Amino acid sequence: MAHTVPDISLNDGNTIPQLGFGVYQIEPKDTAEAVRRALEIGYRHIDTAQMYGNEAEVGEAVRASGLDRGEVFVTSKLNNGFHRPEDARRAFESTLSALKMDHVDLFLIHWPLPTRYDGDFVSTWKTLEEFQRDGRARSIGVSNFQVPHLERLAAEADVVPAVNQIEVHPYLTNEQVRAYGSEHNILTEAWSPIAQGRVLDDPTIVDVAEQVGRTPAQVVLRWHVQRGDIVFPKSTTPKRIEENFRIFDFTLDDTAMERLSGLDRGESGRTGPNPDEFDYIPA
Ligand SMILES: NC(=O)c1ccc[n+]([C@@H]2O[C@H](COP(=O)([O-])OP(=O)(O)OC[C@H]3O[C@@H](n4cnc5c(N)ncnc54)[C@H](OP(=O)(O)O)[C@@H]3O)[C@@H](O)[C@H]2O)c1
Repeated sequence: MAHTVPDISLNDGNTIPQLGFGVYQIEPKDTAEAVRRALEIGYRHIDTAQMYGNEAEVGEAVRASGLDRGEVFVTSKLNNGFHRPEDARRAFESTLSALKMDHVDLFLIHWPLPTRYDGDFVSTWKTLEEFQRDGRARSIGVSNFQVPHLERLAAEADVVPAVNQIEVHPYLTNEQVRAYGSEHNILTEAWSPIAQGRVLDDPTIVDVAEQVGRTPAQVVLRWHVQRGDIVFPKSTTPKRIEENFRIFDFTLDDTAMERLSGLDRGESGRTGPNPDEFDYIPA
């Protein structure tokens, strides 16, 4: 069976590869090599952010790959200190100049920061709408938005986010936010898809992995794609970068899918902060 990564349609008519490569917590000095390796294996979607400090190295690796720009889907995200429209415009320009690209495929508001900026993420979102109108962001979306945040955008803005990138893995299945997305044509991108490794020694996951003859990471990533979410596991280990890519030549049956979904721990399963409270602004 082929290892082809499916392209999924976004609500704006563009498409996105369902599997990508995440570069959070990859040191700038290691990023170009990790991305080079990922592109060589076949990944065609890279997820970076202003906050990660490695956009320049992502751009460098994409250029060095010899692939056409149009073959690689590049996402970046607005940093938390730049939500005011004039700051967001400058920050977006700095993303394009760091990447040395004339557009990104997807640009996201990284966090809603509901306790900052007088609770106003709507003017920030309207600024991203400008970037999409002028073609410098092919698609725009949000990250870490909870249902009330999405409802507010629906009431006050014109463009429906193409994606909402949220924490999802077997210990935090995040069903309510995912359900809002599927009802409103907003794709869910699952960040920390293997909970930064924390779910990999779970006995249920190990058992399913043994049954299907795959690794725990492959089983968890396969669970995500069968749920229809987009994933971009991070690794700087060449063997794992390859392992995480090999998830399109087997399937999980309904029982296995339900066993993984049944591991949900709700709020206590989070590895990252709660978006309703998170207010971090990098120095
Ligand atoms: N929007 C947001 O707020 C947000 C927040 C967090 C993450 N993200 C995005 O989501 C991406 C993925 O999330 P993440 O980096 O937090 O965590 P993750 O992908 O769930 O896990 C990464 C960790 O798991 C290890 N790992 C990877 N593949 C493995 C395998 N096959 N077997 C065993 N261990 C494996 C990696 O180790 P090695 O590197 O040492 O191999 C690393 O420590 C990020 O890179 C970023 O793009 C977004």
